[in-house]
Amino acid sequence: MAIVAVVGGQWGDEGKGKIVDLLAERANMVVRFSGGDNAGHTVINPYGEFKLHLIPSGIFYPEVTCIIGTGVAVNPAVLLREIEELERHGIDTGRLLVSDRAHLIMPYHLLLDELEEKQRNKGALGTTRKGIGPVYADKAARLGIRAGELLDKDVFYRRLQTALEFKNIVLTRAYEAAPLSLEEIYESYRQYGEQLAPFICDTASVTREAMARGKMILLEGAQGALLDPDFGTYPYVTSSSPLAGAACIGAGLGPKEIDRVVGVFKAYNTRVGAGPMPTELKDETGDFIREKAHEYGATTGRPRRCGWFDAVAGRFAVQVDGLSDIALTHLDIYDGFGSIKICTAYTCDGETLTTFPSDSSVLEKCQPVYEEMEGWQESMSDTRDFEGLPKEARDYLRRLEDLLSCPISLVSVGPDRKQVISVKAIHPWV
Ligand code: GDP
Ligand code: IMO
Ligand code: MG
Repeated sequence: MAIVAVVGGQWGDEGKGKIVDLLAERANMVVRFSGGDNAGHTVINPYGEFKLHLIPSGIFYPEVTCIIGTGVAVNPAVLLREIEELERHGIDTGRLLVSDRAHLIMPYHLLLDELEEKQRNKGALGTTRKGIGPVYADKAARLGIRAGELLDKDVFYRRLQTALEFKNIVLTRAYEAAPLSLEEIYESYRQYGEQLAPFICDTASVTREAMARGKMILLEGAQGALLDPDFGTYPYVTSSSPLAGAACIGAGLGPKEIDRVVGVFKAYNTRVGAGPMPTELKDETGDFIREKAHEYGATTGRPRRCGWFDAVAGRFAVQVDGLSDIALTHLDIYDGFGSIKICTAYTCDGETLTTFPSDSSVLEKCQPVYEEMEGWQESMSDTRDFEGLPKEARDYLRRLEDLLSCPISLVSVGPDRKQVISVKAIHPWV
């Protein structure tokens, strides 16, 4: 048995989709363990280019079972569209399973996400408006509706009736919005339920059975460590945990079972939405990175904020995720740079900080302390081995390993599945 978790090490969009698509070649099962369709995982392979929001990035291999795990929040309309889109491209989705315990995103979650963001006004978080905050709030408040409840129309009707009574009070009295219709929601979700019924089951037991049979399992994270509700830049975070620790709960297995934890990092930093980002470049270098790397959100199309690699935040992510390996993506974006900066510390109110502050208002005030390294002029998009990289690029990778205290096992040099350099075997089963 071998289980590998793949998680984001920054503020999301590090290239998790690409890395999971790559590693899944040798897996039997891929389980998405948290987040919802706020995630957008880009996969570019011989089938084309796909932006997956809910379906695990292992779906392109006919032998791989793909699970939408217990920790995921599922918008059934989005999931059905995604299934249809894949099928249209000739991808078989017959091996997809959806946890009966996964919470459902309901129309009032989308509406409340919108209304709450408006209410926050200048303090808006810049959410993806996919209903994520409201759905996980309902899960904690014990007002949520789970995918398994779609399978019994009467149970679903009663659950919806109870939840909607609460929600309509909030919508009409707090936000002075129109109430939502029970019958309309029921009817559309009844239809989703019929379409999704073949996929819904107790996925945790399927995963456990695969474990017992020694199968190779990948646990696919969404978002990144710095968006974690506990350890991220609160309140500018998402509402489910993207950390490796959450992979256990979101997939239904114990911490002892995970053999390797791979953190995906970009060679620089990006962030979408509001919140502190000490290395953000609001200048032509930031714009240059954005345009060269097409740094626009896979889910919302918003321009991503770009900046130099933040090794203070990176080291923190290595620690809170307990990473065993790093997959470093987008190294090719630095081709042609005269020099490259890495943030190795912050200064804040006259003090030097080398650890990541827990308070966002402190991080807001942090100024990056940079170390500058020499760049390289060669293109590395076609390089497939570590020794073939320019010396300056190898030095950059070695320096990041030192600063992060974690080995870089994979280097990605372009968006395509093939554009990768394996430095050290990640699969424990290799
Ligand atoms: P995810 O959410 O972590 O899966 O990442 P996204 O798909 O949102 O964003 C990553 C973007 O970078 C996508 O457009 C990928 O196709 C692209 N990408 C991934 N790895 C590389 C790489 O090594 N180099 C370049 N240039 N692009 C990459
Ligand atoms: P992947 O899996 C980047 C950000 C949003 C916003 C904050 C809260 O593709 O890496 P939410 O809608 O979750 O309530 O928004 O989190 N965010 C992401 N940023 N990549 C993602 O997912 C994200 N999912 C949420 O932009 O700042
Ligand atoms: Mg993304």
